[in-house]
Amino acid sequence: MCGIVGYVGEKRAQDFLVSGLKRLEYRGYDSAGIVTVSEKNEATLIRAKGKISDLERKLIDNRRDDKIGIGHTRWATHGEPSEANAHPHQAGSLYMVHNGIIENCKELKKTLKGHQFKSDTDSEVLVALIDSFYKDGEYLLVDAVVQALKLVQGTYGIAVVSTKNPDEIVVARSGSPLVIGVGQDETLIASDASALVGHTKRAIYLNDGEVAVIKKNSIEIKTLNAEPVSAKVEEIETNLSAIQKGGYDHFLLKEIMEQPDSLVETLRGRVDVDNGLVHLGGPGLSEKELRGIQHLIIVGCGTAYHAGMLAAYYIEQFTPEITIETVIASEYRYRQAYIPKNSVALIVSQSGETADTLACLREIKKQGVKTIGIVNVIGSTIAREVDGGTYVHAGPEISVASTKAFTSQVIAMVMFGMTIAQAKGVRNTILKPYVDEIAKLPDEIKNVLAGNREKVKEIAGKYKKYDHAIYLGRDTAYPTAMEGALKLKEVSYTDANAYAFGELKHGPLALVDDRFFETAFLPKGMLYEKAISNVQEVLARGGHVIAVTNNAKFDLKVDDTIKIDTQLEIFVPILMNLISQLFAYYVTVAKGYNVDQPRNLAKSVTVE
Ligand code: G6P
Repeated sequence: MCGIVGYVGEKRAQDFLVSGLKRLEYRGYDSAGIVTVSEKNEATLIRAKGKISDLERKLIDNRRDDKIGIGHTRWATHGEPSEANAHPHQAGSLYMVHNGIIENCKELKKTLKGHQFKSDTDSEVLVALIDSFYKDGEYLLVDAVVQALKLVQGTYGIAVVSTKNPDEIVVARSGSPLVIGVGQDETLIASDASALVGHTKRAIYLNDGEVAVIKKNSIEIKTLNAEPVSAKVEEIETNLSAIQKGGYDHFLLKEIMEQPDSLVETLRGRVDVDNGLVHLGGPGLSEKELRGIQHLIIVGCGTAYHAGMLAAYYIEQFTPEITIETVIASEYRYRQAYIPKNSVALIVSQSGETADTLACLREIKKQGVKTIGIVNVIGSTIAREVDGGTYVHAGPEISVASTKAFTSQVIAMVMFGMTIAQAKGVRNTILKPYVDEIAKLPDEIKNVLAGNREKVKEIAGKYKKYDHAIYLGRDTAYPTAMEGALKLKEVSYTDANAYAFGELKHGPLALVDDRFFETAFLPKGMLYEKAISNVQEVLARGGHVIAVTNNAKFDLKVDDTIKIDTQLEIFVPILMNLISQLFAYYVTVAKGYNVDQPRNLAKSVTVE
């Protein structure tokens, strides 16, 4: 949510700022801006409403050779998307970019009588506050930043430059990520390491409560209380091809099609098919601790929450004497929920930065409960704050809608559940079928994607005219329905909702008419016949049904049928979810919308 970049070195700063912002555009994309400062202490500020491409057009007549600058791509919180509200914001000789929210900005603004506000943003309040300390010349820039931040309530990742000293950038963070890239005669900053890929492999991840003075050949970090921090330089593992479209028209399709490979990465070194076992190193729980687990809390938002719901259905199938509660982070953080003894919390997040999920992690930790991260982005805040974790290793996800992370999250959590089951002495005969299917899943995913892509595309063309959809499933197919509906609504703006089949008669059946279509997930199994009866009820009321099933003999007269050809029995809902992903993609492309950057959304939601 919002992206920050910065550069100080020997090259033209504008080049990195623009290319870095393009990489971060998925985090926020309603306006953007950059400022560079020349050796003659002159600032060039360029801002534009809209995409980075709009900013680039303005840059054609404003090329500068300045060697220092900062930039920002915005996802509006305070104030509409407009040029005036776009960052960087200015006060006196200072320019600042900000991610996060200043919660006490109203009170702070009242104290800043000397500043003429030009925007509706909370960020301008912060830069004016910093300037109120800086302008008298009593404080160094870094100290003025520290004085201001001590008065701030809220979250921030900031970068500040002054026209008075065009050789340094001051950065600070609390709740919004900031990464410092260590280069050769240059130092770069970004709110996400992906902007640094191709420039440097060496990164320092700033922690909350830290502030840094960045020059081309030096990085000095301290806490807000002036304690020096010795920086740990880590390696950025992502390579350039992982963040490019690689021949696909859109990142969303690329990421859907990547799933056979991304899941292989999730499984690498963790599955022992011969012995029907899984091995996870990351959680760091002893056998005794694993044996003692009686309750699992699974926390996430959006797709991560759905992954948790699906994993819970599986884990309870093979883990005895354990209760599982899957919760939405934005709700759970404010609940007065009792957490039973012997609980472990799984903190699920693709980005590892989602504000509500992070807040839950901190609340849960306060209660002394062990936290295990199921995180994709390496080095992210959640990954660093959990007690232990299992990286899902799905690779970078650029498209705002989460796809490959879901598949990997579900399986990573199932493997964690199996680790508990193994410690609790669950018989190998019970676990073996799960291990066998997990091992086969990447190939099965490949087949389902290849075998259905064209058909789903064709069907999607038919349904693009509908504004309303209902997704239906039961048991493990219910979270699948929820995730399918989310995918469709977030990218194609179709009003899509999911219900458990059994709930149909309790209300949603009243909706069935010509404006709606119903997607029914029908995996073979214990509840198959019951789900079929529910589909009959929809058909009897004139519903337009798309059936997704692995029953080769399915012959109900529905509008469209997608038959999944698979040997799997347990993880069929994961295969069905691929159909939902493709369907959402193709409906959106058919409607002509921006599939990678849906309106109003952002990839990484770092504000509450
Ligand atoms: C945003 C994204 C979703 C994602 C959710 C949780 O809303 O657009 O795709 O599922 O955040 O994100 P996380 O990074 O915590 O998994």
